[in-house]
Amino acid sequence: MLDVGKQRADQAQGLRSLAAKRPVKVIAVSGGKGGVGKTNVCANLAVALAAMGRRVMVLDADLGLANIDVLYGLQPRATLADVVRGDCALEDIILNGPHGVRVVPGASGLTEMAELDAAALAGIVHSFSDIHDDLDVLLIDTAPGIAADVLRFSEAAHEVLVVVRDEPTSITDAYAVVKVLSCERDVQRFRIVTNMTRGSGDGVALYNKLSRVTDRFLNVSLHHTGSIPYDERVGRAVQMQTPFMTAYPASMAALSMRKLAERADSWEVPAQARGNIEFFLERLVGLKPAVMKAG
Ligand SMILES: Nc1ncnc2c1ncn2[C@@H]1O[C@H](COP(=O)(O)OP(=O)(O)OP(=O)(O)O)[C@@H](O)[C@H]1O
Ligand SMILES: [Mg+2]
Repeated sequence: MLDVGKQRADQAQGLRSLAAKRPVKVIAVSGGKGGVGKTNVCANLAVALAAMGRRVMVLDADLGLANIDVLYGLQPRATLADVVRGDCALEDIILNGPHGVRVVPGASGLTEMAELDAAALAGIVHSFSDIHDDLDVLLIDTAPGIAADVLRFSEAAHEVLVVVRDEPTSITDAYAVVKVLSCERDVQRFRIVTNMTRGSGDGVALYNKLSRVTDRFLNVSLHHTGSIPYDERVGRAVQMQTPFMTAYPASMAALSMRKLAERADSWEVPAQARGNIEFFLERLVGLKPAVMKAG
């Protein structure tokens, strides 16, 4: 017979030890619509932050076609789902990307964690605790759409980056993400990245289009974090399976990404609650805080 009380105590202990550590900035990259540049923003923001000396990990929550592994030219052997099933350890699946950026192929693994019993969950929380020690930023590349398990990553993160481009479907999808996260998930602050802009002033104009609607209908705070211009070298870098930050460091896209990274680096991480891995895991796996504090 399983000792549920002890398992809960182990789990609570693991989470308490995480809480005692310096918080890690958790940033989810979302956008609603497919193909707006979420993965490119995530992959290159990670590289830009790493080049500034930050210790960065990317959690790939979308193992679609052009995912983080592909953009970094990596081949995952296993995903977090294998860890959840107990087939391997967390450190076995972590890949080393450019500039020391580490990649966790996540897929549905993290949401599958919600199904685990307390002992298995405690084990995974402990594994993240080891990683937590030498990590400054955790970036999450999310899948398109506003399905519940996609939104969960944004809900659990400290900061939500919403990538939008100047086309009606992208704007309405970005609005839908902001709306559902604010109305149903209690997320109030959104960092907007305007991508594939064509001329100076286009990014601000696009941001204004979105914020006019959110100001009118929602109680949220939107911040324009930056614009990445349309740049053919982004597509070329994708073909080369290299982030444009390293393939074309002098491109306009790379210069803009560096500015974006400086802004992201200046965001404060709250000393507790949203932002640390404890909170992230707790929210992600849908555990009630009361359970986490038991034992
Ligand atoms: N600033 C840019 N300039 C030119 N092309 C870009 C830019 N940003 C993204 N792209 C192109 O858009 C395509 C889609 O980008 P990406 O895969 O990052 O989008 P995504 O939002 O992650 O898509 P999905 O929702 O399918 O995961 C890529 O082929 C990329 O080359
Ligand atoms: Mg993507």
